[in-house]
Amino acid sequence: MTRKMNYSWTRMCGQSADLNIHGDNNKISISQLTNNQMGFTHLTHLLDKIICHIINDHKPAVVDSTTELGHINNSSPGDLVSDLLASRKADPGSGKVFISDLLLKDNIMTIFLAGHETVANALTWTFYLLSQSKEIEDKLHNEVDSVPGENAHTNDANMSKLQFTEKVFAESMRLYPPAWAVGRQAINDCKIGSYLIPAGSTILMSQYLTHRDPRFFTEPHRFSPERWTNELKAKLPRFSYFPFGGGPRSCIGEKFAWMEGILAISTISRRWRMDLEPSHLVVPQPLVTLRPKYGMLMRLIKRT
Ligand code: HEM
Repeated sequence: MTRKMNYSWTRMCGQSADLNIHGDNNKISISQLTNNQMGFTHLTHLLDKIICHIINDHKPAVVDSTTELGHINNSSPGDLVSDLLASRKADPGSGKVFISDLLLKDNIMTIFLAGHETVANALTWTFYLLSQSKEIEDKLHNEVDSVPGENAHTNDANMSKLQFTEKVFAESMRLYPPAWAVGRQAINDCKIGSYLIPAGSTILMSQYLTHRDPRFFTEPHRFSPERWTNELKAKLPRFSYFPFGGGPRSCIGEKFAWMEGILAISTISRRWRMDLEPSHLVVPQPLVTLRPKYGMLMRLIKRT
């Protein structure tokens, strides 16, 4: 059953949400839904509320509530949500706002769902791997320390100097790809190698398994950022490394994620290192993303 949901953004941010659920073109009332579907509706509301909360938290710094429409202060503090809010400025010609409330909410929802959990997992595994190899950690520290200035990493020229940091991030996503499998549905019958795939079948491709395949990576289970030479990149077959998927539906946030990951690793590592609590059990848990099943208990140590 296909279901279409219509939201009213204005009401959604208030107490009651305007949510209509249609099934096969016939409108059905909420009371007709099963418990599971009620759970889905409830969770959807909850998610909307979280996003509204994020937007409302950022509004005071950017939005001037004393004016009726223009309402933008032009003084965004520079974080992503504030910048998106500030971009809602009205076009002086037409008076129309460039980004509607709904589009703003959708953008923040995308970053929250698709971009937050994935990068958070990638960074968690990265600092875990670094805690397991003093030699690699030292090499990373040498690189990040070589870029001068407090906020030096945030400019383009310096980003390109963080090549070992980039390799660390790439290697971490090889061993612990935040998206550990992607799926596609066959539209027609097709043959892949000796396998006949009937139309309608779902095919799963696992980054976790492919990235650890010895045909592509020597000592595949070893954390070795140095392996990411131009030579290796040139000889790797297509889709032997695909943390961001591939084809027309590949990750739209890939470039953003590389920048975010490299900046976060370098900024944190300039001041801090992390040690895994010796008794902590690290077990990957393949849910929608690849998480550490028991979290990652680390001791944060200030670098001197
Ligand atoms: C380390 C971080 C990230 C990883 C590993 C990752 C991975 C992926 C993967 C594997 C897919 C599915 C691709 C496919 O089916 O071929 C995907 C889709 C997507 N990602 Fe990411 N992602 C990351 C960060 C982000 C960020 C930062 C954003 C947004 C700011 C984002 C937005 C999206 C969206 C919107 C899609 C769906 C694209 C579509 O269906 O057309 N992702 N991502």
